[in-house]
Amino acid sequence: MTILPTRDVCYGGDWNPDQWPAQTVAEDIELMKEAGVNLVSLAIFSWAKLEPKPGEYDFAWLRDIMDRCHEAGIFVDLATGTAAPPVWMARNNPESLPVNKDGVRLGFGSRQQYCPSSREYRSRSKALARALAEEFKDHPALVMWHVNNEYACHVPHCYCDVCEADFQDWLRDKYGDISALNDAWNTHFWAQVYSDFDQIYVPRTMPTIPNSAQVLDFWRFSDSQILKLYLGEAEQLREVTPGIPVTTNFMGEFTYLDYREWAKHVDVVSDDSYPDPALPGAAHEVAFNADLMRGLKGGQPFVLMEQVTSAVQWRPQNTVKRPGQFELWSLSRVAHGADGVMQFQWRQSPGGAEMFHGGMVHHSGKKSRWWSEVVKLGGSLSNLAPVVGGRVDAKVAVVVDTDSARARHLSCGPNEAPALFSAARAWHRSLWEKNIATDIIGVEDDLAGYSVIVVPELFIDYPKFAARLQVAAENGAHVLVTAPSGVVNPTLRAVLGGYLGSLSDLLGVVVTDYAVHSPDAAKWAQSDLWMVDPRVDRITRAVETPGVVDYHDLEVRSAALVRALEQVGSPRPAPRGGVWGEYVMATKEADQFTDPMWLNDEVEVVAQFAPESDLGGWPAITKRKVGKGAAWYVATDLDAVGRDALVRVLAAYGRVDMSASNLPDGIEVVKRGVVTFYLNHSDRAVQLAGVTGFDLLSQAEATGHAVVAPRSAMAIVSRE
Ligand code: GAL
Repeated sequence: MTILPTRDVCYGGDWNPDQWPAQTVAEDIELMKEAGVNLVSLAIFSWAKLEPKPGEYDFAWLRDIMDRCHEAGIFVDLATGTAAPPVWMARNNPESLPVNKDGVRLGFGSRQQYCPSSREYRSRSKALARALAEEFKDHPALVMWHVNNEYACHVPHCYCDVCEADFQDWLRDKYGDISALNDAWNTHFWAQVYSDFDQIYVPRTMPTIPNSAQVLDFWRFSDSQILKLYLGEAEQLREVTPGIPVTTNFMGEFTYLDYREWAKHVDVVSDDSYPDPALPGAAHEVAFNADLMRGLKGGQPFVLMEQVTSAVQWRPQNTVKRPGQFELWSLSRVAHGADGVMQFQWRQSPGGAEMFHGGMVHHSGKKSRWWSEVVKLGGSLSNLAPVVGGRVDAKVAVVVDTDSARARHLSCGPNEAPALFSAARAWHRSLWEKNIATDIIGVEDDLAGYSVIVVPELFIDYPKFAARLQVAAENGAHVLVTAPSGVVNPTLRAVLGGYLGSLSDLLGVVVTDYAVHSPDAAKWAQSDLWMVDPRVDRITRAVETPGVVDYHDLEVRSAALVRALEQVGSPRPAPRGGVWGEYVMATKEADQFTDPMWLNDEVEVVAQFAPESDLGGWPAITKRKVGKGAAWYVATDLDAVGRDALVRVLAAYGRVDMSASNLPDGIEVVKRGVVTFYLNHSDRAVQLAGVTGFDLLSQAEATGHAVVAPRSAMAIVSRE
């Protein structure tokens, strides 16, 4: 689906003309033309102006703005304005304000102050969406609906009584019978047994560790309540304007909402992305988020709905992008599947919470360094129409699962983990560093066509997915699963009889125990528990504590992995595991503990834990041949060297194109449709051989030998 009738890449940003005098608005339109802006997101935070009193709409100002956009050839992504309800709603309906975990009702004066279960908010937001749709249904500038803004960004959960009653109903629907809930939540532990759904609380602040299954269900409930808000508005829009695509802006790696589920209900995926330019890994975050978004609707292009030109204002220190980086990261998004590059926001605010957040037009206007970058990017994007609609073809997939990330985060132990796709990000990074095109998919997505499938930390056991991985391996795929996986069922009950659950048959191994290191020993530094005076502490000085390091040394046993490590560097680097280690046994033979382990011939030990660790001699990486492919298991959080070497091995087996993996440092290559992007993330001009075709960005022919300037890009259309 293309968003603009012109089939151009969308370029523009959030525009808030209602916050500025008429003269500035006129100037804005002229500046937009100069910058090549072709799409603006309007009215995102305009509810108070659209409905100054309950039920009294004022759309005249918006119509005037939309008309002016149309005259200037600028299209509109029209917001429903419901992300910041006006003060009258808070005053007339205080119960519409959300309540936090400690029972405090949140106040008015910022934004997103609505309870997701509030009936008043629900009906008024739907009514506003309907009224806007009726008003602008035939407006020629309207090309997309932008429902609300960053749902759940500030208020992912509300703990009010209305939410509690709705949560009880949600549980009733899900479990049917209270005994099923008691069983799923294992409520006999700590005497939490319920005899009726209406006894159940939302998980407010409690004396100590809550029942994590209850909290996980509460997160799912909150997600579904918020999705209902979106669906309520989207339904109004679709009834009135069935031909206009509907979106709501996502926030990348955000697991309060399950975007894979949400994506089924948006016509276009759109994303807000603010990597921190202070961090070297930010260049990868740009690519990771883009691949994540492209993967939400089976490879369909998405829109980058928000990024900043220069620097945000909400970090303690807001590092500014380097010269050229704004364009470079924008083009990276396009290369990875974006059909639009939009900014927050068009004009930097003159006051309020976001006054120091960068914009396309800064406080200093055209005198700002950023203005020239904005105009330059507009010019570049205007040449990229041949990319629009194009797909990225990947033979490698990395699997992410929101519920698994939530479950791992919410379970108390084995060690703390953020509710993020950290392991998937690490594996994706290893592939990206080698310029290997990678899709990010979910557990229900089609696996056909992938010759390498990486399944990092799939905490929840999904028997159906395991069966589909088995089929993929039989058909030739190399499936790599990493720990901890298959540890709990979907209601956070432990898998009994050995972890990996239904993945065990495929992998040929079972996990009997985990052994986690605790490198945060530094926090004990001031305590006598940590101190040893070797001159006098006769007993303590003999106590060894290998568990305080943040790694597990590994010994490599497979010749293929040794060869791959030799390619990584000379002398051959040794791979390491991180804090996570496990006792892994061959599935069939492991009916009781023996030390060292014993495996059958069916499973090859690719690497094992080194003898210094208590896991010494136990397998760290295993491989089992399955049909035409294989199933690999990694029982530790492998370091970058280990991942790189394993990626080489898997790519070789899977016949994945590695031809761009040895290009000069800093060069990212991505092929999208007919266009190959060369992105230079380094500070040096880089010479590339064998680049032939037409460079859409410089509008010049590349004849074999190309020079890519520091922090810049080429977009080559092949002549073949
Ligand atoms: C987003 C939000 C925008 C703006 C921006 C600042 O989260 O959607 O309205 O606040 O962040 O970076």
